[in-house]
Amino acid sequence: MKTSPLSLRPVTPVIGAEVRGVDLDALDDDSLEAIRDALMEHLVLFFRDQDISIESQKALGAWFGELVEHPNEPGIEGHPEVFRIHADETSVRATGERWHSDVSCDPVPPMGSILRLHTVPESGGDTLFANMYAAWEALSDHMKGLLEGLTAVHDGGPFYREVNRLIGRDDGGRSYPSAEHPVVRTHPLTGRKALFVNEMFTVRIVGLPRGESIGLLDFLFRHVQRPDFHCRFRWRPHSVAFWDNRCTQHHAIWDYFPHVRSGYRVTVRGERPV
Ligand code: SIN
Repeated sequence: MKTSPLSLRPVTPVIGAEVRGVDLDALDDDSLEAIRDALMEHLVLFFRDQDISIESQKALGAWFGELVEHPNEPGIEGHPEVFRIHADETSVRATGERWHSDVSCDPVPPMGSILRLHTVPESGGDTLFANMYAAWEALSDHMKGLLEGLTAVHDGGPFYREVNRLIGRDDGGRSYPSAEHPVVRTHPLTGRKALFVNEMFTVRIVGLPRGESIGLLDFLFRHVQRPDFHCRFRWRPHSVAFWDNRCTQHHAIWDYFPHVRSGYRVTVRGERPV
């Protein structure tokens, strides 16, 4: 058996691990395979002191799959698949302030996202991550039986239009992705089942009367908030987080206004949820 080149320190027994012993600017195949294995086990990985280039961040993502452009956030100059995550004293909102799986409204939602922050506030600006395998497994057999086989509509329009309205950006009447996904999906690599609805994009459960759909989604959105499914990441300058969107949700906390929090995210294409 090969020895892993990484050293892993779990953040909680349920989700998250801090990875040591790796330089994201100089990755070889052994390290990349070990990162993939660790991601499958811990769902989100955290790396410290990685003052890496945009090219290295993209190369890490590209090893896992095709990089994709964000449907609402323009990419940075010369790198359309990289967008800036930034909040400061002029901000009226911050990215990711509700529980979500990135761009789940896409018919082929992302497998993962890699965020590097170069500037962080003295305190605050943490990100919460939740384990969607654990959220599924904690449901009763009755509830699992009800949810298996159901699909839900994930619509980017309401959320992205609200973002644009808040920041005063004219979206020129563009349309946004919308897709129907299973409420519980099977992860393509681990084969485990994960709950796949989130309060940012999931608007209704298909085939249920409106009141039942609202009630069921409301229960599931509150279920995801259970702290025993979570870990909380405290950023430092040049920390990197890499999460698997197929089995996690995250929530960025904007408690640091008027201070600056800034960095770059790349997003990796996944597969159609089944
Ligand atoms: C996001 O990608 O949703 C934002 C995460 C963060 O800023 O911590």
